[in-house]
Amino acid sequence: MSLYEIGNLAVDIAGKRLVQDVSLTVEAGQCTAIIGASGSGKSLTCLTPFGLTPGTASGSIKLDGVDLRTTDARHLRDIRRRLTGFVFQQPLTALTPHLSVGAQLQEATMQAGAARPSRRELAQKLERVGLARADERLDQFPHRLSGGERQRVMIAAAIAHHPKLLIADEPTSALDASLRQEIMDLLDALRAEQGLGMLLVSHDLASVEGHADQLLVMEKGRLVETGPTREVVSHAAEDYTRRLIAATPRLDEAAPKLSQPGDLLLETVDVGVEFRRPGWRRGTIHAVAEAGLTIGQGESLALVGGSGSGNPRSGERSPASVP
Ligand SMILES: Nc1ncnc2c1ncn2[C@@H]1O[C@H](COP(=O)(O)OP(=O)(O)O)[C@@H](O)[C@H]1O
Ligand SMILES: [Mg+2]
Repeated sequence: MSLYEIGNLAVDIAGKRLVQDVSLTVEAGQCTAIIGASGSGKSLTCLTPFGLTPGTASGSIKLDGVDLRTTDARHLRDIRRRLTGFVFQQPLTALTPHLSVGAQLQEATMQAGAARPSRRELAQKLERVGLARADERLDQFPHRLSGGERQRVMIAAAIAHHPKLLIADEPTSALDASLRQEIMDLLDALRAEQGLGMLLVSHDLASVEGHADQLLVMEKGRLVETGPTREVVSHAAEDYTRRLIAATPRLDEAAPKLSQPGDLLLETVDVGVEFRRPGWRRGTIHAVAEAGLTIGQGESLALVGGSGSGNPRSGERSPASVP
């Protein structure tokens, strides 16, 4: 018996069928990933069975041997609370802004009926998701944390009550590339340690490829391909899947050579971006000044900078990019 099993799921909203014929399984300790373009029905597929969208689900839905379709709303809430944890793309909207990290973690821990955790236990939960100075963090509010830190707090809260199934809907889409990898590695480690089953959703194959055991590809509310990840990626039969794979940059492949190496493809000189200062303060914000770059055939150019580096203090110049 699989930990989680969906058979022929259909989701309707306001009389419109938005998802159909979706079947999938998630095994304990393993990861099943759904990929597909935005709007292909991934979130409806993973959230509707738990009553977290306005949609109605039909088909068979079994979690830990319980048929969710035949349980009443109260029992469904109870199962959701005890057995599942959720991680979303935007931790700031999922975390409560006026509650400290510690208070939210305490609530999450106790949601399935566990005793009140000690401060030390709460700090350990933060340490487990890789947050330094965990004790201090317990008193902080979500807005004080960086995007990556918030995502770690959300993961800590999602698993605080030891669920069996973790549903992660685009958990890394709002993060920088390096943080993405860190968060995915953390989710892998938690899965292995706690035997969690994970249903992972992403619009981006590269984010899930090295982490998912099973891969499902969705397009327009239907599955177009399913199978072990390696097989789907190497023998993609569907044109749509091939396009998704082609859109994933691979560092081990040379760029296609359409013209001579070094031929100039793109050149920008002295690019500037200015904004009128909003509100009562007059003047202009020079967000970018004298930025120039060239890209030659077969070259790749990385534009690197911290968040906000295209936004120097007014009047200062932003450095041009260096290829
Ligand atoms: N609450 C809703 N009401 C009406 N349509 C919705 C609602 N939620 C999603 N949809 C539609 O269902 C389709 C699938 O949405 P969704 O599952 O959120 O896509 P994804 O997660 O793959 O980006 C989209 O066309 C979307 O517009
Ligand atoms: Mg979505």
